[in-house]
Formats: sequence, C-alpha cells, structure tokens
Amino acid sequence: MMPSTLIRSLVLLIINFILMNFAFAKDHIVLDLDLSTPIAKIQPSMYGIFFEDINFSADGGLYAELVKNRSFEFDKPMMGWLQPATDPYSLNQNSGIASTLNFASNKSNKNVLRVNVHNDKNYSLVNEGFRGMGITKGQDYLLSFYAANNDQKIKNIIFQLVDAQENVVASVRVAPKDKEWRKYTAQLNAKKTEEKARLKITFEGAGVIDLDMISLFPKETWKGKAKGIRQDLAQLLFDLKPGFLRFPGGCIIEGRTLAQRYQWKNTIGDVEQRPTMISRWNTEFSHKVTPDYFQTFGLGFYEYFQLAEDLGAEPIPVLNCGIACQFNSGELVPVSELDPYIQDALDLIEFANGSVQSVWGKVRKEMGHPEPFNLKYIGIGNEQWGPQYIERFKIFQKVLKEKYPDIVLISGSGPFADGEQFDYAHRELKKLGAEIIDEHYYKDIDWFKKNATRYDNYDRQGPKIFAGEYAAQSVAIVSPENKNSWETALAEAAFMTGLERNADVVHMTSYAPLMAHTEAWQWSPNMIWFNNLQSLATANYEVQKLFANNRGTELLSISANGKALTGQGGLYASAVRDGTDNTVIIKLVNSASAEQEIKLNAQSQPVKLSATVTTLTSKLLSDENTFSNPRTVHPVVEKRSFKSDQFLIKLPANALVIIKYSAN
Ligand code: AHR
Repeated sequence: MMPSTLIRSLVLLIINFILMNFAFAKDHIVLDLDLSTPIAKIQPSMYGIFFEDINFSADGGLYAELVKNRSFEFDKPMMGWLQPATDPYSLNQNSGIASTLNFASNKSNKNVLRVNVHNDKNYSLVNEGFRGMGITKGQDYLLSFYAANNDQKIKNIIFQLVDAQENVVASVRVAPKDKEWRKYTAQLNAKKTEEKARLKITFEGAGVIDLDMISLFPKETWKGKAKGIRQDLAQLLFDLKPGFLRFPGGCIIEGRTLAQRYQWKNTIGDVEQRPTMISRWNTEFSHKVTPDYFQTFGLGFYEYFQLAEDLGAEPIPVLNCGIACQFNSGELVPVSELDPYIQDALDLIEFANGSVQSVWGKVRKEMGHPEPFNLKYIGIGNEQWGPQYIERFKIFQKVLKEKYPDIVLISGSGPFADGEQFDYAHRELKKLGAEIIDEHYYKDIDWFKKNATRYDNYDRQGPKIFAGEYAAQSVAIVSPENKNSWETALAEAAFMTGLERNADVVHMTSYAPLMAHTEAWQWSPNMIWFNNLQSLATANYEVQKLFANNRGTELLSISANGKALTGQGGLYASAVRDGTDNTVIIKLVNSASAEQEIKLNAQSQPVKLSATVTTLTSKLLSDENTFSNPRTVHPVVEKRSFKSDQFLIKLPANALVIIKYSAN
C-alpha cells in the first residue's frame, strides 16, 4: 500500500496539472470576462486628487505668486529679503536700510516695510523668491505693491528681474507719487528664461518710504484667472480627469497645535487681509527642514472651490474636528467647547451652497461666484484616532446631518492601515452609520501587491471606503530616500485593480502626496515634481492617469478558473464597461519578470473587434521619470484587431496593459 501522504501529493499534482492546462496553459492564460451582468456602479468619484499644502505645493507651487514673504508677515519679517546692510558682500552697506514696522493692532497684516534710502540709486532690496523665481522669455509679469512715500523724496522705484548672474532680464520704473498709502501696478516683460531669477528693487532719490504687499505674478495663469495658479501644474491635474479634489490636506488641517490648525475663514476674502501662518511642515522633519515654509492663504478655500470647478471635480474640503495632530501635541478641544468648530463646518456649507442672501453665500457672491459651488462632501478630521475622535465625530455628525442631511460626511480611520486603532475606528464608525471612511496607507511595495484583495471581504452593508492617501514606499514611510520608481507605480497598479474590483465598497481613491518642489520638499514620493519652470509626471502619475481616464461606469467580472486575478502567477485584473460610449475596458497587471500571454474569453462580443491596447512599462523596475528623461515610463498606445475567438494579448514583463474596445 502506498503511504497516504504520497497519495495526497499525487492527487494534488494531478489537480494542479488539470488546472494549469485549463486556464494557465503553457502558451496562454484564459481570462473569462462576463459582460452579461454588471456587478456594481463605478462612482464618478472613484479616482480623484488629494491636494495637501506640503512640499511647497501651494505657496511656491500651484499658487503662482513669485515673491516670497510679500507682506513681511513671516515670523522673521525680513525672511526672503536681502539688502546691502545685511549682505556681507555688498559694497553699498551704508546706502540705506530697511526694517519692518509692526502695527500689532492690525491682526492680519501687522508688518510693513520702512525703507530709509541714504544714497540715490545705490540702495536695493532683493526678493529671492521660492528658491528663485521661474520666468519665461517673452512672458509678462504683473507687479503690484502698496507704498506711502512719507517725505516724497523717493522719485522712482525701479523693479528688475535679474538672472542668477545679476543680469537684468526685465525692468520697470514706477513713480510712487503719494504720501499716503496707495496701490501701484506695473508690468514686466522677461527677456530671458530663467529658473533662478530674483526681484531687485532700487530707489531713485534719498528719503523714507513705506512698502507692503509686493507681489509679482505671471500674467498667464490657469484659465486666465488673475493672480491665479500655475498653468503647467494645473494642466497635469486636469489631465487626470479627477472625480474630486480634496483640500487642503492632510495633517495641515490638524496643525501641530490647535492654534496652528487650518481655519478656512482666514483663507477667504481680500487676499491682502488673509493672515500669514507658519506651515506645520516648516520644521517637521529634521532631515528636511524648510524654515521659510509659511502659508499666505493666497490659495484659500474660495480658490480651491474654483479649482475643483475648473477641473470638473467634486470639491471635498476637510476640516479640523477639534484635535491637533496626535503625532505632535494632540491638543483636544473639550467636547463642551466644540461649537465654534461645528459652526465653521455649518458656515462652510453655507459659503459653498447657500443663497446669496445668506451671510456666507453673500461672501461667496462678493468674491465673484454667486452660483453655488454645489458641495456634496465634507471631511471631518484627518488622521485622528481613539475614542476622542469618535466622540467628536459623533457631535459633528448629529448637528450637520440635522441641518444638511444630504451632505455626505467623510470620517477617518486614523493613520494606520490596520491594527487595534484601525479596527476600533471602523467598529465605532459603523455603529454610528458613518457613510464614508477614509483609510490611509503608506506601505512597502509587497504590501500593495498582497493587498489587491484588501476589500474583497469588506462588509457590503457597512460604510463606503475612501482610500484617501496611499503610495508605495520604496524604502520606508517618511524616508527621504523614497523614489517614484516604476516598481512602486506597478505595485500601485496591481493594488488599484483590487480597488476597482471592489467598486461597490470603494467609492473614492487618491494617491498622496500630490506634488513637491524639487528644492523645498519634506516628503517623498510624490505624484508630481516641479521646479520653478517645469513639472514632471512620475510613473505613479501615469498609472493614476490611466486608471482615472479609463474609469468606466460599471464593474464587470473578469476571472481565471472562476477566481479574480489577485496576483496568481503575478497577474492582476479588473474590468469595466463605460456606458457613455459603450466600451469595455480591461486593466491587466503583469508583475512577473517574464512576458505572459492571455486569451480573453468574452461572451457576446463582436466577432471582429478593434481594440486600443495601452502599455505602460519600463526596462528596469528602478526606472524613474526625470526632468532630463521625463518619458522613461510613458504609455505606448497601439490599435489592434482581433477575432473574438483569437483574442490573444501578450503582456510584457512588469507591465500595466489596458485594453479598450467597443462593445457594439
Ligand atoms: O501625505 C502626507 C501626510 O501623510 C498627510 O498630511 C497625512 O494625512 C499623512 O500622514
């Protein structure tokens, strides 16, 4: 008699053999696509944008202002401004002096600059910009400033853009005639493209003059909005076709202390009256200290709403829930004192949606947008955890739902992807009937590949999921060595097939963080990198774009041997139908190091079909897009014809392949 273990092994071998021949045959793998019964609706919000003011994404990034510390409100009021008296190399140290005057009574705009010019034309002030100013040959730049020419002895102020070698590349002369405060405007035209330009201000005459709010914007901004946002960056966002725009973060809303939390009411109205505040990312990480990181709020809630509208995305503002960042001070507002925080949320809904007769709707109208912004979602808190969060969320929920039952509240499950706190949050939020729970995961590459099944067993009756912040980390979370490698992007693509396969539960997803200045970042990896002139779409961006641009409207079943593809043999798959143009879209990830061929078996598809096959891959998993080689990881699109019984496609090693064809 054969020993029983041997019999068991033999039986297993035979079963394996049959299975391999059935679906994973040597020459191709058969995938069954079921077109007959859509499984779920794909939400229009499925793929969106998480914007956080981190890595100089707002001031110095998306917000196109070129002057840093334009109204002298940084904690060190002369930060960003150089003058001969403080420049050890200057030959003109005695030519004058500038220092700030403080009017503490004006809470939002305390400081102005007083300039004492001793020597005609010898004294100059220089603004260094955000690691320089990016200017483009032939483009116009809009200058504005306030001045009070106290003794009227300053005849002219010369504003010049100078390049890194101090050559003048644009110049304009303004006569500050008035003794009293007055706003002046002028225009400069750049004669040269320069990434590291600086704004030099020289005075004609000797006297005392006060200046404030010295501002310089490119004339060309996204959608031509005056003093608006940077075109190239906004275009990259637009090209994602995002379903939503979440703003302004992230931990930025929490603040390291409650006093430093993000308060939306400080970010609307007259830009000149918005108070400047230190960024919580300023000195957060000792490996990447950026002491000159402040928030002017020139890009504030009104502008975020407008951006969402221009992008065709649902706006998703996130508010502080009465808890400062629990990785920092963790300060708590006693529940008995939560009213102002809740009022902020109520007022925000009125600001976005209220009639122009309402208090906050009127403010929106006066800012130039009488039509409502059609707000549907609000996030309550970011990465809070523990009973303190649940206790506070419950109060927000009660009040907000009573007054605005249709506004969907997004609650958080904390910074952890699993574990005690995560489970606790889910349990409690479910009891509260939470509608959407935000989950965050900054994990290693393998985690993403293994977690393509993460949502397969989530409760279908429970809250919906917002995968609100995720990115594969090539080294470790917050490591400055993390790269935007093809390997990270491929792992995210594999994981995203799992998000999509679970579209009945997962209603929103967004990569994070969104963008970073190459010389002023705190966090890596990021979806988009930029310097003062250029922006760079990473491999991760390309993956996000391919998923978002192929989101479809209904989820279909795709399987091998009756099972979803969640990494067997390195393969992952999801499929959708797009009801708007009746196409079928199949997303396939081959994470194996060898090419694999699939045969698509779909009932009721046309006998002959022509498909678009988009392939995203790269020679090496370590490949990255760079400013010098921005298209290392870039999709290749080809048209292919198939007979329905010969629907064979080769998937290159380490590739994301998207097949799209008309279902007619
Ligand atoms: O995306 C960077 C930070 O990561 C976010 O601010 C925070 O929510 C998360 O911890």
